[in-house]
Amino acid sequence: MQFKICDFAAADLGAVVQLLEALRAQPDSAPVDIADFIANMSHGATTVVALAGGDVVGVASARVAGDRAWMQVVAISLQWRHQGIGSALTRRLEERLLHQGVRKISALLASGQVGERALLNRGFVANPGMMLYEKFLALEPSDIRTIDKWGGQILDGDLWSKAAGMEREKALIDGRIVAPLSDPSLAERIGLRPPATVMMFGPPGTGKTTFARAVAGRLGWPFVELLPSKMSSSDGTLANELREALAELGQLDHVVIFIDEFDEIAPARESRPASVGVVNQLLKSIPELRQRPGKLLICATNFVGAIDPAVMRPGRFDLLIGIGPPDAAALTALWERAIASMQLGPGVSASELAGQCRGFTPGDIDLAAQRAAAEAFARARKGGDGKSGQAAIVTREDLASAVQRTKASITLAMQEAFQAEVSNFERV
Ligand SMILES: Nc1ncnc2c1ncn2[C@@H]1O[C@H](COP(=O)(O)OP(=O)(O)OP(=O)(O)O)[C@@H](O)[C@H]1O
Ligand SMILES: [Mg+2]
Repeated sequence: MQFKICDFAAADLGAVVQLLEALRAQPDSAPVDIADFIANMSHGATTVVALAGGDVVGVASARVAGDRAWMQVVAISLQWRHQGIGSALTRRLEERLLHQGVRKISALLASGQVGERALLNRGFVANPGMMLYEKFLALEPSDIRTIDKWGGQILDGDLWSKAAGMEREKALIDGRIVAPLSDPSLAERIGLRPPATVMMFGPPGTGKTTFARAVAGRLGWPFVELLPSKMSSSDGTLANELREALAELGQLDHVVIFIDEFDEIAPARESRPASVGVVNQLLKSIPELRQRPGKLLICATNFVGAIDPAVMRPGRFDLLIGIGPPDAAALTALWERAIASMQLGPGVSASELAGQCRGFTPGDIDLAAQRAAAEAFARARKGGDGKSGQAAIVTREDLASAVQRTKASITLAMQEAFQAEVSNFERV
């Protein structure tokens, strides 16, 4: 079962108190004065909860005073330990505190107590001897206003590990983007200029957005996706909005700006004269953005050949990276996710399924998985009450035949076209 992290709602209070009560006797749980906790709640403590199937399985809470916050409670139900809940709770709590102008978060924990690992994962530093964990938040409140205005987010550092396989792409992104940006002083000593502008191209559903988010998560920089569809469609206004967005975001110390479907906003000017204003604006804004370090613009496209060549010239885009169709490891990870919540028959193997899915996108895999489930569902209905064991199970055969019936979105021709694009356009 999955968990999700939510802001505390008044209706959760009973369940939270029950959880704290249940954990009271555990040696690794920090002592919590429940009356104190309730009093703090009514005085505006910031609290987030982890929910699984409607139950509260974790809670983290902090009290704010000016630009400092004290974490008071990190509690996780026994059955839900070691699954990342502590880190996820701490991350959401940090995000909430940032928005309240908090610059430093402290937590007093004994060694081995619940929450210790989460704090270390989130970059808190222990003060020796005192077990006082502290973390300075890198953003000024005015930065947060800018990030909020453009719909930015602070993302998790472990998004990277959730992207399975794709070793070639990961090595490129890690070596050429993340490493130089996270160690700028070494890069400078050697004379390596960290990238400021990156284009990722490739067929749909191959993980471009996923990688862009993962890069922001690893750098610990805010991630802002600019959605041209939400900016105005009339050409003059889109150009103005882009200028404003890039100028304001460029003032931040650090930011990853992501523009998806870049071919839509910067197509070759002769093919779409209406886009001239936007392309010209980009030609002005990109160099301005490049002047200050700590900014990374990532653009993604399915049609790299359609983009205005002037925009892509060296000096405007540092790196052009092809992101190919999901490889075996990525397909296996996608299958694992697709069947995670199903009742499965014997012998079902995600890696075996992956082997039959060359050219499948994540959407294709989801479609095949749902087709197999529909088959099992129909069988279970026919079987009468649907409770009769075997009938309500998705079998290996259901999955195999669903895969057979599902067409790969990335056809052989598209894979060949992608290889050609890589040799024409890739620049690393
Ligand atoms: N390597 C991977 N491992 C696990 N999941 C992946 C991987 N690549 C993609 N996914 C999943 O597949 C889905 C689609 O990925 P994503 O949105 O990043 O693709 P995209 O290249 O941006 O697609 P598009 O070109 O359509 O915008 C996401 O749910 C993502 O989590
Ligand atoms: Mg995408």
